[in-house]
Amino acid sequence: MQVKPDNCTIVIFGAHSDLAARKLFPSLYQLALWGHLPEEFRILGVGRAELSHAEFRLKVYEKMAGLFPETLPDETAFALFSARLFYVRVDFTEIDGYYALQKELMDGAGASGICTNLLFYLATPPGLAPIIVKNLALAGLGEKDGSFGGWRKIVVEKPYGRNLQTARELNTIIGDVFHEERIFRIDHYLGKETVQNIMVFRFSNGIFEPLWNRHNIANVTITIAEDFGIRDRGAFYEEAGLLRDIMQNHALQLLASVAMEPPVDFSADSVRDEKAKLLRSIRPFTPESAWQSVVLGQYEGYRSEKNVAPDSTVETFAAVKFFVDNWRWKEVPFFIKAGKNLDVTVTEIVITFKCPPQNYFGPAESCSYTANQVILRIQPEETIAIKFGAKRPGESVITDPVYMKFDYKTSFAEPGVTPYHRLLLDAMAGEQMNFIRQDSVEYSWAIIDALREAVGGQPPETYRVHSHGPESVQRIYE
Ligand code: BG6
Repeated sequence: MQVKPDNCTIVIFGAHSDLAARKLFPSLYQLALWGHLPEEFRILGVGRAELSHAEFRLKVYEKMAGLFPETLPDETAFALFSARLFYVRVDFTEIDGYYALQKELMDGAGASGICTNLLFYLATPPGLAPIIVKNLALAGLGEKDGSFGGWRKIVVEKPYGRNLQTARELNTIIGDVFHEERIFRIDHYLGKETVQNIMVFRFSNGIFEPLWNRHNIANVTITIAEDFGIRDRGAFYEEAGLLRDIMQNHALQLLASVAMEPPVDFSADSVRDEKAKLLRSIRPFTPESAWQSVVLGQYEGYRSEKNVAPDSTVETFAAVKFFVDNWRWKEVPFFIKAGKNLDVTVTEIVITFKCPPQNYFGPAESCSYTANQVILRIQPEETIAIKFGAKRPGESVITDPVYMKFDYKTSFAEPGVTPYHRLLLDAMAGEQMNFIRQDSVEYSWAIIDALREAVGGQPPETYRVHSHGPESVQRIYE
């Protein structure tokens, strides 16, 4: 575990949000329990409801007890934690509340650093980020003010903007108030152990990297499948759709991790330089290429979900064939398939190698059956498998695919921490490697914007719940 971060106050905008209830408060509670938070810290919830500190503490307790009864609450431990919880009412669009917040922050002095080191966390709907940041600046809580001592940082949840233009506008607004080194654009996929391991797998082993290129690899397939629908997030999904919710961030970040060049060193910016370069190399879509490269889908029944328009054309599924136009990957297809309400819940990356030049052990077509693969299973199992052909025991020479498998659970005794544990600590400590830099956000949006434009408003194809997705998905593999 890393060194303890500096004493600080964590200010959570959207203290009543689902994200705060499911991820932020439980993670902070556990980090406090494990002794990984600073010696002195405060958590200040910010929301629109009128609540006292005591009422807020009770609400947090009740939510956590309802959601995670097994981990919580040891009432004594929670009492220690909740003594650090405070609340301020702010109407996000009204400046007055920000002055109250500023006063609360300054009055809450105690141990050194608490009132000078501030981590703002925006767990609010994406459209509110600009106004919150502008108001923070007006109330003298921005980072570029420079006269406060200590540090001020901001964590912004995805989706970061809703296209290239709004992402750029948001970058400008936040950039006026915080330096880039203090901005943490979160994509929780980058906090997953198995995602962080992609780079370690590639760059700490001598045997894979020499093969990791167009001479040896036939294709790469990335799957982010969920066997459940949009749950109660109809309003959000109607605004976002799968391309903005998953493709622009989680999926493209997986692609960048698996395809990037080795960084100059293992520093945040060297790694992020390579990811940005990779995203920049993705071939833009045109209306001609889109037909063969993109299939969008919507699950049956989506239009009857709560807060969804009865004639909605929002996609809940996308299968896309990308090409990376660089020296290493030219003409190797990267298939990404992501969707809600599919037949399984799994996230994995499958690297399929080319067949041997001569097939002694069966007809030519059998190669695809035995082709070598490296399978990086991100979740729910956390495994890496290598698939290769082996002789089936017996008199004849028949090859069968077999697997060598590494499993996190059996190889390592320590339980992994969740992405939010890790990313919250990283943000407090100022470690940016697993947060998305401004240029990468913009390159990713440019790809998605071009894709949407190329598809040209074609309605998504309906697919059956718990199926593989739309029937025509096959066409992108041809
Ligand atoms: C979120 C998306 O970012 O990631 C959700 O908004 C998706 O739609 C979720 O379900 C998946 O995250 P995880 O960690 O459960 O795979």
